[in-house]
Amino acid sequence: MAIFWRPQLAIGHDEIDADHRYLILLINTVELVLRFPESPQHVLKAFDELEHYAKRHFEREEIIQISWGYIHVDEHKLEHRRLLQALTALRMKVETALLDPNPEAKGVAEQSGEISAFLRHWLLDHVIKSDAKLSDLFRKPDLR
Ligand SMILES: [Fe+2]
Repeated sequence: MAIFWRPQLAIGHDEIDADHRYLILLINTVELVLRFPESPQHVLKAFDELEHYAKRHFEREEIIQISWGYIHVDEHKLEHRRLLQALTALRMKVETALLDPNPEAKGVAEQSGEISAFLRHWLLDHVIKSDAKLSDLFRKPDLR
């Protein structure tokens, strides 16, 4: 099931919110190519784009946090690092499944529901629980 942007996901910073919207789009794309994997290259390309954009987004978000004087930036950076590691591990798992010559092995299409659920949780849990803490900072700039 695709993810849809909803106002509750907004944290009140235009650049970060735009990045989150784009990450949702990339996750929906991964889900789509997993369900209909025409070629392993398409699936891996979708993962590469998600990984690449997530990395850039986390860097941008950390720079914004520093510039706004967010005191929990180190903790947040660590969480970003863990998220990237989880994404890399998932990509490797998918790549292994794609290249498995065993016809009995579970294909990526069969695992697409599970993988997509993981990715939805991967992003939304972080946005709702950790990035949302930034919204107070952006709403009350005088508290810096
Ligand atoms: Fe974040």
